[in-house]
Amino acid sequence: MRRKLIAGNWKMNGARASIAELSKLEGLHPDPASEILICPPVTLLAAFEGKTSIPLGAQDCHWETGGAHTGDISAEMLKEAGAQAVILGHSERRTDHGETDADVARKTEAAWRAGLLAIVCIGETEAERDAGETLTVIRQQLQVSLPQGATAENTVIAYEPVWAIGTGRTPTLDQVAEVHDDIRASLEGRLGAEIAGGIRLLYGGSVKPANAAAIFEIANVDGGLIGGASLKAEDFAGIVAAAETQRSP
Ligand code: 13P
Repeated sequence: MRRKLIAGNWKMNGARASIAELSKLEGLHPDPASEILICPPVTLLAAFEGKTSIPLGAQDCHWETGGAHTGDISAEMLKEAGAQAVILGHSERRTDHGETDADVARKTEAAWRAGLLAIVCIGETEAERDAGETLTVIRQQLQVSLPQGATAENTVIAYEPVWAIGTGRTPTLDQVAEVHDDIRASLEGRLGAEIAGGIRLLYGGSVKPANAAAIFEIANVDGGLIGGASLKAEDFAGIVAAAETQRSP
């Protein structure tokens, strides 16, 4: 059985005082069939470490362990700051910083090296969907962004259609199912059914308490990567509650 994962991506939001919001999530998940993770900005990751029992993650890392890379942070540094996981290849990183699939692969290897769970993000733009290229784009991103060596323990894949992020728009349930089924099939082709069957596939993009249950019911959806709705404990708790009524196979 795959444990549902509900991961909050705070993006560039929050302050030290946000520990109060995080504290509201303490003891939120009594159901062992699901787990939660909050990925705050890296300054808050360090500030929150030791002050919460909520598992924490980061939003990006450099592929090197250290060196002359002004402004960058290594996976080892994130680990030392308290991260258990790191989001990689988010579309905002790809757009704002020109990250390529090859960059994401190097970062994923770095995350594994440091003992972090890599949450590898992929997703099509609206133009690509309109052109009927969604599955081609997703397969290509997955193929290149994910290096050899992925397992259920070190990797989670997040499908985030770019046009659904922060827009209030979501794909239809059939569209989500189609992409998630295809990702599972690609992983099976590459890793074999056993390893592929353990890797969790998250959906991200305008997930709210109101739509979460229907999305999490989809067979190959093993949780969510939550942006805006992760900033308020009440909304995030509503999404976690939606996951807890579900069971992945
Ligand atoms: P929203 O939930 O705000 O649409 O953001 C999704 C996202 O980008 C999570 O990584």
